[in-house]
Amino acid sequence: MGRLQDKVCIITGGAGGQGKVAVDFFAREGAKVVASDILEKGEQDVAPIAARYPGQVVYVHADVTRRADLETIVSTALEHYGRIDVLFNNHGAMVGSPFLETTEEEIDTVLGVNVKASIVLSQLVVAQMVKQGGGGSIIHNSSAGGVVGFRDMAAYGASKAGVAQLARSMASDLAEHKIRVNAVAPGAIDTPMPHKFMEKLDAETKAAAWKAMEAGHLHGRIGQPEEVINLVLFLASDEASFMNGAVITVDGGYTAV
Ligand SMILES: NC(=O)c1ccc[n+]([C@@H]2O[C@H](COP(=O)([O-])OP(=O)(O)OC[C@H]3O[C@@H](n4cnc5c(N)ncnc54)[C@H](O)[C@@H]3O)[C@@H](O)[C@H]2O)c1
Repeated sequence: MGRLQDKVCIITGGAGGQGKVAVDFFAREGAKVVASDILEKGEQDVAPIAARYPGQVVYVHADVTRRADLETIVSTALEHYGRIDVLFNNHGAMVGSPFLETTEEEIDTVLGVNVKASIVLSQLVVAQMVKQGGGGSIIHNSSAGGVVGFRDMAAYGASKAGVAQLARSMASDLAEHKIRVNAVAPGAIDTPMPHKFMEKLDAETKAAAWKAMEAGHLHGRIGQPEEVINLVLFLASDEASFMNGAVITVDGGYTAV
C-alpha cells in the first residue's frame, strides 16, 4: 500500500526538473497522476516514467495561462480516474532582470504563470473536490526567493511571495471543506531553471555566480529535486493531516541566516 495509494493527483510543470521527480515519486506511492506541461517534448520526457507505472500516468500538453487548457487538465483527470484528490501547482516561470530593466511583458508572464494560473487551476480543482464531498490536498511551489530578496528577481520574488500567501489564504477559505493547502519554498535546486537564469552570463561570470549561489546555502551546495519532492509527497499524503496554511522552506538553510 503506497503513501498515495489510488489518490488522483494533478502535477503541473510535470515535465520539468522537479515535476518529473514528482510524477515518479507520486506514481511509485500508488497515485494516479495527470502530468501537464507546456514543453514541446514534455510527453516524450515523461514517457519513460509513465512506462514504469502502467495505467497510472496520463500526460496533458497545456499552457497554464490558458483557461481552456486548465479545464482540459481537470477534465482529463475526471475522464481517466473519476475524481481529484491532490493538486501540485508546480509550474513556474523565472524572470531574472535588473529591476529597472524588467519589462511589463516579463512582469505579466511571471505573475500570469506563477500566481494567476495557480489561482485559476485551484478554483477548478476545488470546485471538483467540493462536489466530491470535500477533502484534498493542494501544494504550491513557492521559493526562498519569495521569503528573502534575491538580486535581479523582484518580479519573480513578488510572484513567489504571492504563491506563499495563496497557500495561507486558501487554507483559511477551504478548511470548511477539509481541503489542506500548503506551500514549499525551495532554495536553488538543480533543474533547468537556474541554468536558464544564468545562460546570458559569460562563462567566467556564470562560474562565479554559481559558486556564490552554492555558498549562500548553509550546506554549501544547491539542492536536488528529490529533496523538495520528498516534502511535497508528505504534504500530499494523509501523513500531513494537521498541516495547513504552512509555507515550508526546503533550502539547505538559505533563509535561516
Ligand atoms: N530550480 C530552482 O532553483 C527553484 C527554486 C525555487 C522554486 N522553484 C520553483 O519550482 C517549480 C519547478 O521548477 P523546476 O525547478 O523544476 O524548473 P523547471 O524549469 O524545470 O520546471 C518548471 C516547469 O514549468 C513549466 N511552465 C512554465 N511556464 C508554463 C506555462 N505557461 N504553462 C505550463 N507549464 C509551464 C515549464 O515548462 C517547466 O517544465 C517552479 O514553480 C519554480 O519556480 C525552483
